[in-house]
Formats: sequence, structure tokens, C-alpha cells
Amino acid sequence: MKYISVAKAIDQDERLISLLAQEEEPVLCVNEDASKQKKISFRALYDNNRQFWDTPTTSWNYLLPVLRVRDLLAALRENPDNYHFYTSTHDGDSQTVTSDTTDKTDGGRIEIVQVSIPPNFGSHYSSIQSMPKDGKLELIDEHNNSLKELLSQEERSIEAVSDALNKSATDVSLINKSILEKALEMSNEEAQVFSQELVDKTREMVRSSTTLIDETVLQDEMFDALVSTSNGTVVQHMTRTYVRSVSFLMFYNKKILNSSLPNRLRIIFRKRYHSYYKQLLPHLHPDDVVLERVFHSGMQAISTQQIHNFATGFLLHDIGKTKDIDYHEGTEAYDREKIVDHVRQGYLAVVNKTAYPVESGIITGYHHEYYGHPSGYGFFRAQYSKHLKQHPRQHYNYLISFTVKPVLSFQTMAFFPAKLLEIIDVFDALTDPNRVYKKPLTTEEALDLMQKQFVEENLKLDPILLDLFMEYQRSA
Ligand SMILES: [Fe+2]
Ligand SMILES: [Fe+2]
Repeated sequence: MKYISVAKAIDQDERLISLLAQEEEPVLCVNEDASKQKKISFRALYDNNRQFWDTPTTSWNYLLPVLRVRDLLAALRENPDNYHFYTSTHDGDSQTVTSDTTDKTDGGRIEIVQVSIPPNFGSHYSSIQSMPKDGKLELIDEHNNSLKELLSQEERSIEAVSDALNKSATDVSLINKSILEKALEMSNEEAQVFSQELVDKTREMVRSSTTLIDETVLQDEMFDALVSTSNGTVVQHMTRTYVRSVSFLMFYNKKILNSSLPNRLRIIFRKRYHSYYKQLLPHLHPDDVVLERVFHSGMQAISTQQIHNFATGFLLHDIGKTKDIDYHEGTEAYDREKIVDHVRQGYLAVVNKTAYPVESGIITGYHHEYYGHPSGYGFFRAQYSKHLKQHPRQHYNYLISFTVKPVLSFQTMAFFPAKLLEIIDVFDALTDPNRVYKKPLTTEEALDLMQKQFVEENLKLDPILLDLFMEYQRSA
């Protein structure tokens, strides 16, 4: 039988801790020179020491059968609903040793191997992948017809809207991923021809669903419905992020068009925001750090055409993620290098292999920049420092641009929709019910943490956009 260490198993998915504890899984404990073996239930070990697999002073190795771990991981991916947090009822006397030293597995030969993680885009991705290209495109047509049908109805139920948005966004992202995987093997010209129909149909889907999001009073129930279908896969995160980002963008637009928001911001700018933005524009005289320096050419409403271009980027933003990495960020379990690379992979696929608008590619590439903070993925930062080598005297004199040109010519530091997406991306990671072994935060807890840790302690998210997002969330 093949075994994997408990530490490596938990590295794959920290929710295993709860599952192993609930199932009273027997753990094979082997001492350093393998002279002693015993089986003790995971729960007993865990109740005794919450980090028993990670205690450097111990002389024991803790092992689990690979096949069992694989099954449990698959169960977590497939049926997240059956997963509950294990809360210890331990009061110090519940040590339950299930078996002892006599157990010799396979004559004592223990082979320790790595176990591979189940596909991260969910089993649905395999079925999409196996469809012929025409079938995939027809499926997008079907979704487009359902969205149009809903749009033609005068009264729509929240359930029907969230169901249609959820299914169409999920399928269309997976179809994009699978067709672009093939396109990556082709030359850019060939790939763009190959993906043209996909681009047209996806943009049609984006047009219909953004209208639907705009016309629906997005109540909490709508997002509750989306969150309740979360199964911890990347694609569910992409779907929720897509719908929420579009919805927030619509809210932003209404604020700009129907209220005196820019005036209000100008009035409170010095008191509320100046100290933040001063840090980001240190080469400017403090008096020059004004609202118009934050938003290049001043705060603007977004045209319908641009909304569609931005929305396409939101939909595809994590398309560069590979199948075998965990999207949950901020845990020990994730491989930073691989994660960081998803923005580059996504950018290259969207920009080189398709005729999607350049806005969508930039959103895919620049959605983890965190205003140059070292924890950002730095795809823009890397290109900016290359640019600086040739133009050493250049500085960006603005922070956020609504159009791509100032971003591509390094006149500004950030692209408006990518900065907006960062906020939703962090919010989704904090409130996702499948958060790795941490309880999901409530909306208020998440907003509070974002303000403290992502603005006050480290300036990563945009303070003005985060304030607007808070207003948006609280108005839901
Ligand atoms: Fe991402
Ligand atoms: Fe994301």
C-alpha cells in the first residue's frame, strides 16, 4: 500500500483536517527508524495537538493511505455540501487509540508518495473538454438563447436570473479555457481564426448577461444563490467574480451619472484620501496629489461598449490558472510561482491567441498588482521596470486610467477595471464558503479586514474604489 504523510495530504486541501477528524480516520504512526508502528485515530491525535503533523520535535511520522486521501479529496471537490467544520469536543480525556503496534502494512514496507490533487476546474470541465468544438459553440448558443429569453420577459424571478447567469458564465468560461488550450498550440494567426467564433459568441453572452445584471435589482438572495452553488472550483469563483464585478461596475456608473460623486470626493479628498495617494505618487508635490491625479482625466462613467469589454475580462480573468493548483490564496498550501504565473498565462492566451478586446487581456494580466506592493504578482511591475531601463526619467503621474493607452505607455500605474476586479477578487476569497479551513467571513467582517489590511496597513486596494464597494455592498 502507498502512503502519504499527513502534512502533504493536508497541504493539498486543508479541509481534509475536518474530514479526517469527523471520519475518525486511522493514522499510521511510524517512528523514525521504522521499528515501531501504530494506528491512532486522526481525531485523537488532533484533539491532543492541533498541529500534530507539524511538530518538529516529534520522532514520529504520520501517514495516510494514498488511495484513501485521493478519495477524500475527490469527495471534498464533488460534494462540498457534505463537508462541515469539525469542532472538537475534546475535554482532555478522549484519546482513542484504535489499534496498536502489531499492525504491519505490506510486510512493513511503506512507500511514501505525493498524491495528485483532483482537477481544479471540477469534473464538469472534463465533460466540456471532451465535447467537439462545434458542440461547445452550440452550448454557448443555447445559453445565449436562454439569456435572451429571460431578457424578453417583463417579470423575472431572482432564481431564474441567477441560475441562467451562473450556468452561462460557468460553461462559457470553461469552454473558453478548453478552446484556448488548443489555440495555445497554434501560431497566433491560426489561433485567432480558430477562436474567432468563440470570441463572437462569448461577447454575445457577455452583452446579454450584463444587460440582465443591470436590469435586475441585485438583491442579497441573488448572490446567496450564486454562493450556495460554490464547490471550491476556480470556475465558480470566476462566475461569482464576474457577476459581482459587473454589478458593482453598474453601481459605479449610476453613482457617477446620477449623483455628485466626483464633487463629493473632491471635497473630502484631502482629509480622507490624500495620505494614501501621497505614498503612491511620492515624486509629486503634495499639493499636486489631487483626485484628477488618481483618476487620469478625472472620474468618468463607463460607456456600454467599454462595460462589455471590461466584463469580458472579468469573465476570463483566471483563465490562465492551470488545473492542478489551488486557487485559495494566502495559505501555505499554494505554490506561489504557479499561482503568480496565471496572470501571464492568461494575458498571453487572451492577447495573442484571440481577437478579444485588448481591455480584456489587460484585466487578465493586471488583476493582482496591488499598487506595486511586493505581495502583488507584479506582471505590470516587471514590464514597468524594463521600460524604465530605457526611459529612466519617466514617472507615472496618474494612478488609474479608464483607457488602455496610458497603461500600455506607463503613464498610469493601474487600469480601472483591473483595480475594481482586485477588490471583488479579495472579497470573494474571504467570503467563499469553501475557504480553506477557515470559516468564511461575513460581508461586514470581510469589508473590515479589507479596509484594515489592504488599505491602512498595506496600500494594495484602491481606497476610493473600496469605499464605493462598501457603499455598494451595504446598499444591497
Ligand atoms: Fe487571479
Ligand atoms: Fe480571481
